[in-house]
Amino acid sequence: MFRPLTDYNFYNKQVLLRCDFNVPIQDGKVLDDFKIQNALFTIKFLKKAGAKICILTHLGRPWDIKDKKKRQEKFTLKPVYEKLQELLKEDIYFISDEIGRGVRRKIKKMNQGDIAMLENLRFYKEEQENKEKFAEKLSLLGDVFVGEHFSVCHRKNASIAILPQLLPDRIMGHQLAKEIEMLSRIFNHPPKPLVVVIGGAKVDSKIRVGVNLLKSADFLLFGGKIANTILTVQGISIGKPWPKEAVVQLARHFNLTDTKIYLPVDVIVSSDPEGKDLIRETAPGVVRKDEDIFDIGPETIYTFCEIIKSAGSVFWAGPLGLYQTEQYMKGTKAIGEAIANCNAELKIVGGGETVAAVRSLGLEDRFTFISSGGGAMLSFLSRERMPGLEALKTQ
Ligand code: 3PG
Repeated sequence: MFRPLTDYNFYNKQVLLRCDFNVPIQDGKVLDDFKIQNALFTIKFLKKAGAKICILTHLGRPWDIKDKKKRQEKFTLKPVYEKLQELLKEDIYFISDEIGRGVRRKIKKMNQGDIAMLENLRFYKEEQENKEKFAEKLSLLGDVFVGEHFSVCHRKNASIAILPQLLPDRIMGHQLAKEIEMLSRIFNHPPKPLVVVIGGAKVDSKIRVGVNLLKSADFLLFGGKIANTILTVQGISIGKPWPKEAVVQLARHFNLTDTKIYLPVDVIVSSDPEGKDLIRETAPGVVRKDEDIFDIGPETIYTFCEIIKSAGSVFWAGPLGLYQTEQYMKGTKAIGEAIANCNAELKIVGGGETVAAVRSLGLEDRFTFISSGGGAMLSFLSRERMPGLEALKTQ
């Protein structure tokens, strides 16, 4: 169904390599190159195989800025292109011209093994509007599509959902194949017991994942906003802000009497909106209306860590509290370290904030796999139909 890189002769072919180089940028510099590093294997493979490589990617959400000039300045891919040159230790082309005949000519003129990067695909409204005409324009630039863009495969965008099907051949990149293989292990006979830890924001997507993983998990440990939502469903006061009613309704899909589910028994709260002072430790049921929950408490940390110690596999998505602030990083730090130190055979972590937390704690080498996906990983684990994966199938 999916063709691997090794199943195709790329010699002298014009390859459209769709990546997700949507990386954080500040003052014209890439702050975190994890996603770019992840694509290097495939880029080098294609180069060695004698392909002409044209990299397609988006960056950010440029249309949030009305002014065209500001939009183009803020969301240009130039810093990403410079970072890629640095990582590959070679010069590559940057093509910022309007996609059309001129760009076609430039790519055709490239030599085997040459690499070019097109400017931000989201500078074209048609990309996010999933317009067939735009995908057709892109398809004229190449002979074969290679997908190395797992983290954006949940989006119905022209270069993701339509383009692969317009080319005669479509191939799955090395890292994308690895994402699917590793994330599938969470469903397919993971070493037992399987402990799933879910926290952080994106509550609605995480509820779907939780409901789905409850089938294969032995323990489901909740912290962060998702825990607050479930506590609300249980009728326990959780202070402010109250979760939206629609999300609360979704959380009702949990069988809350299921003994696999573990919720915080104590929390760290503050009535200061930024959590700077008035901090106290309490039970979730007695959080006052003027207070917010910022972390899990010591009893909860102890229980969660004891469960993790016994794990055969662990999957973790979402920090347990406001880990960026020193007072509230205890929960996330303790859970990260417990996973890193446990003897589980399989340890998978994913989601932008969680991966950032793992890396800031220096624990990344202690995990079996770090998923590049945030929303895409959640969508995959909820077994939703992902337009990018559907379009990559050969039949
Ligand atoms: C990501 O970083 O999660 C992907 O690039 C998707 O970005 P989007 O949420 O702006 O579509």
